[in-house]
Amino acid sequence: MNKNAKRQFGHTVLEVKELSTHLFLKHETLKAVDGLSFTLHRGETLGIVGESGSGKSMTALSLLRLEPKPAADVVGGEIWLEGEDILKKNPEELRKIRGRSISMILQDPQSSLNPVFSIGSQVVEAFRVQEDHRKSRKAELKERAVEILRRVGIAEPEHRMSNYPHEMSGGMKQRIVGGIALSGTPSVLIADEPTTSLDVTIQAQYLRLLKEFQNTHQFGLIFITHDFGIVANLCDRVLVMYAGKGVEYGPIESIFRTPSHPYTHALMHSVPSMNKKTEKLVSIPGQPPMLGEIRSACVFAPRCSYADERCRTDVPPQFTGLSNDETHTAYCWRLEDRNWKPKAY
Ligand SMILES: Nc1ncnc2c1ncn2[C@@H]1O[C@H](COP(=O)(O)OP(=O)(O)OP(=O)(O)O)[C@@H](O)[C@H]1O
Ligand SMILES: [Mg+2]
Repeated sequence: MNKNAKRQFGHTVLEVKELSTHLFLKHETLKAVDGLSFTLHRGETLGIVGESGSGKSMTALSLLRLEPKPAADVVGGEIWLEGEDILKKNPEELRKIRGRSISMILQDPQSSLNPVFSIGSQVVEAFRVQEDHRKSRKAELKERAVEILRRVGIAEPEHRMSNYPHEMSGGMKQRIVGGIALSGTPSVLIADEPTTSLDVTIQAQYLRLLKEFQNTHQFGLIFITHDFGIVANLCDRVLVMYAGKGVEYGPIESIFRTPSHPYTHALMHSVPSMNKKTEKLVSIPGQPPMLGEIRSACVFAPRCSYADERCRTDVPPQFTGLSNDETHTAYCWRLEDRNWKPKAY
């Protein structure tokens, strides 16, 4: 469990209220993000977890207004970054905010680096774009690029500047992408499954590096993952997403102690444990819903072993103050009974 969980955080750097992003496809509209709310403070790490297709990446892209246009668009809600309303910014203003105030490490590091340019020129270009500083001296930018490569743990960075992406390992590329994202010292950094392509040792190193940077720069970190184990080690707060919705949200200790939504409980128990003797990996029965379906019920009801008639006909309200924590919330009809807890899958 995160030892820092009880520490105090700085001011609010990001506030998201009822964010909705829709995908307008030929024959239907998908609610990829559906009324999502959360808050992030300086120095705090928020984990966003959920199965594939639950809307994690779409949420991240929406925060930077990089949702894949024209198919996707933010259709509702508010995004406040350092007190500024992101949804009111024009493209030019957004370009300046990206990298400088909010940065993102993409899910696939390979696709973030251009195969035909050297590593050095790509880091230099990132500085140039972020700072809008076309007049900076080339030598000065190059020096800063070497420094950032050194800081993310690339040995002999001067020499590596002239290498191309294909000459580097997956772990090195991931570090470089991280370095580029951090070069503008943003107040919010979003890391979208940055470790899925790395082996376990490199993964641990990378997470340590990210934490080290966060301790130095105190940015708010949004870490997107399938892996509840990483969440337990890294995050202060968790948002559990299912079918575009934030079904449970709260401080890490509270969610681990008392997962309140049946989906959170199921996800946590689908993690294999080294300490427990399990015969097989627990999996959540059924398939995630189609995002285009009309939501006149609990989205998880078709897969939930606790669902009754009302769950299949009425959208559950938000229950707050779960496990005696005002900020721990979940959407599930069962929570009307304050003593109710999901048990086993
Ligand atoms: N460019 C796109 N065109 C059409 N549909 C898309 C596009 N990008 C995402 N989607 C759909 O939007 C929904 C949310 O996708 P998203 O990528 O946010 O999921 P995710 O939680 O990040 O999943 P994963 O864990 O696999 O990365 C999914 O139903 C997905 O199929
Ligand atoms: Mg994703």
